[in-house]
Amino acid sequence: MGWLILAIVLVAALAAVAALAAARRQAAATRSATTGRLAAETVQADRSATGTDVDRAELEAAGRARAQETKQAATPAARAAGTVAERVPVDEEELAISRRQFFNRGILATLAVSVGTLGAAAIAFLYARSAGGFGGKVKAGASLADILAFNEERREPYYVPEARTYLVPYPKEDVPKARKVPQYRPVLAGMEAGIVALYQKCPHLGCKVPWCPTSQWFECPCHASKYSRVGEKRGGPAPRGMDHFAVEISGGDVTIDTSTPWPGAPIGTDTTGQGAEGPPCVGG
Ligand code: FES
Repeated sequence: MGWLILAIVLVAALAAVAALAAARRQAAATRSATTGRLAAETVQADRSATGTDVDRAELEAAGRARAQETKQAATPAARAAGTVAERVPVDEEELAISRRQFFNRGILATLAVSVGTLGAAAIAFLYARSAGGFGGKVKAGASLADILAFNEERREPYYVPEARTYLVPYPKEDVPKARKVPQYRPVLAGMEAGIVALYQKCPHLGCKVPWCPTSQWFECPCHASKYSRVGEKRGGPAPRGMDHFAVEISGGDVTIDTSTPWPGAPIGTDTTGQGAEGPPCVGG
């Protein structure tokens, strides 16, 4: 154990001596570089290298010259008196182009999105029409005979939700009177076939007008306008009868043309003479 401690101490001492020697060499080199004086080791080394007795003064002079050169090389170049370093300006043109490009691209992107959205909406609108949605021609989904049978048995309109329309029977014996009402001209063909298509929207302020099973009229819950089975106004603030859609009957099938709501008959029109058949659903 004792020999191990001794070995450690010896190694530590050798390391300390080596570090001291290195530090001294470094200090001598630094001193030589800054003062131009040659370290004793340098002189000794030169002597050994040349094998001659070089003049110490000459060596020191050479060392000072090299030190001076080193100093000059390390000193930053002084600015010439009276001169000011020029500031290099930002290239405004280049900057403006970039900004312009940015805005141009932003505007183009916005335009593209807007046009795309508009186009998609237009296509969806046209597709809905061509596909038979509201605003176009809508098949009733039943034959004329079936619809009239439904009306008679259930004592209520045949409702077509896709067309927002009530299909009700029109008495054939009243067609001559209907022919005298100018507002009925666009829908007269349906009346002659025995059917009327009534738009569910109240001509007063647009509420959906429900059917009243007791009075057998349409009665608006919003302001109590009332209409007979064929949509002629019987009371309330509405300015006319319920609006109509034209119907087409082909091979017995009924199609409702919802592209144009035709204005209902004027106040006072009563082609069927249908009175209330029971208590009202709205008002007294
Ligand atoms: S909305 Fe129907 S009566 Fe006013």
